Amino acid sequence: MPATTMDQLVALCKRRGFIFQNADIYGGMQGVYDYGPLGVELKNNVKAAWWRAMIYERDDIEGLDAAILTNRKVLHYSGHEDTFSDPMTDCRKCKGRFRADHIKDGKCPNCGSTDLTEPRPFNLMFKTTVGPVDNAENIAYLRPETAQAIFTQFKNVVDSTSRKLPFGIAQIGKSFRNEITPRNFIFRVREFEQAELEYFVEPGDDEKWHEYWKEERVRWWEEQGLPREHMNIYTTPKDDLAHYAKACYDIEYQFPHGMEELEGIANRTDYDLGNHTKAQEEFGLSAKVHANSESTQKLAILNDEKKKWEVPFVIEPSMGVDRAVLALLTEAYTEEDLGEGNSRIVLKLKKHLAPIKVAVIPLKKNNEQIMNKCHEIKQNLLKLGIGRVALENTGNIGKAYRRHDEVGTPLCITVDFETIEQQPETVTIRDRDTMAQERVKIADLPNYLREYFLQK
Ligand code: GAP
Repeated sequence: MPATTMDQLVALCKRRGFIFQNADIYGGMQGVYDYGPLGVELKNNVKAAWWRAMIYERDDIEGLDAAILTNRKVLHYSGHEDTFSDPMTDCRKCKGRFRADHIKDGKCPNCGSTDLTEPRPFNLMFKTTVGPVDNAENIAYLRPETAQAIFTQFKNVVDSTSRKLPFGIAQIGKSFRNEITPRNFIFRVREFEQAELEYFVEPGDDEKWHEYWKEERVRWWEEQGLPREHMNIYTTPKDDLAHYAKACYDIEYQFPHGMEELEGIANRTDYDLGNHTKAQEEFGLSAKVHANSESTQKLAILNDEKKKWEVPFVIEPSMGVDRAVLALLTEAYTEEDLGEGNSRIVLKLKKHLAPIKVAVIPLKKNNEQIMNKCHEIKQNLLKLGIGRVALENTGNIGKAYRRHDEVGTPLCITVDFETIEQQPETVTIRDRDTMAQERVKIADLPNYLREYFLQK
């Protein structure tokens, strides 16, 4: 099991510019974090890996990027207005408010008082108003999951792409939940990102596809660097399922605070498309929107063989991007004893996830010739499109290596006296994990790096 502690990760993230507390200079905002220069790279690389696996490496999934502000009706008919809540208990003595399942032995977790209210539901959605008039008519929500827009845009996507079952719609974006007790760094936060796939299948084929996506997603996590033995598949008991689900697997990971959910894979049946269809019938809206189609009454798809319109079932792998970042950092964080009292911290991220791909380092920072060569190499490498290339100009080669080990830079290129004094011009390339160094001609660098970063 990874022995990484949350304190180690929080310290590294702040020190090296991965993740900062939001509004830090004003004392922060609980459950809200900002991604710094290296954090945004890591997060973008995680999202790119997910998008590549969903959209580019297969041909049965379309993408979507829908709005965060959500029409109240959508979240009314999806069931979120009524059921997306946690039971809460108030302490009459200290006025604290706690999740009912966090109360132990009938005592307030803050002051120990037993003078507590009965649990009452607390809706987790952030409410706002759209337009200048603050009334019930204009209520909207920040979406609590990205999925709903996939359901409400289902017909538009089908009509514009001519997809047949099975096929999916994938989306990455922000979601918001007014979590009562945000905790464990970026594990449970109030503003977070989700990468969600809604995979539409024939009713009756849903259980087969549920198994398929469970395996597929575990395989993807392994490719990102999480060993299978650090994950667990948890089958949600029937009475714990979300209001829309018939069954759900959680892919759990051994986070520093325990084995917890990383991704949910739910069988949502035809719950959402069915409910939005019912709403359309109630409002008489569908006839206006889709006047020339038999499907007017349904968010449905035509089954050519059966010659009938069907409301598909949905399998939903839903990954939390912030939890992905936390899991990958946990797994990658390594402290190595180098002997003779020396040690190093290495972030052993897979190279496609590393925030900085290559660091160019001068052996001596005050040598003009060496510095000019470093700048020239960096400028040429920037054109390769491999990702971020940094010029590390601290003047202390040992410190530069340590710094880049700590942020997971897979390769360091060092320019030394041999580079500028001998022909052909060469540099050393140092591997982050093995610390092995090899001499490579500058002319060969583009091919060397392209090949290196193409390999998985
Ligand atoms: N559309 C389905 C859905 O939203 P969920 O299990 O509530 O299902 C899916 O959320 C994933 O989103 C979780 O597995 C988790 O990774 C992430 N997630 C949910 N709430 C979160 C929070 N408050 N902070 C960070 N990530 C969260």
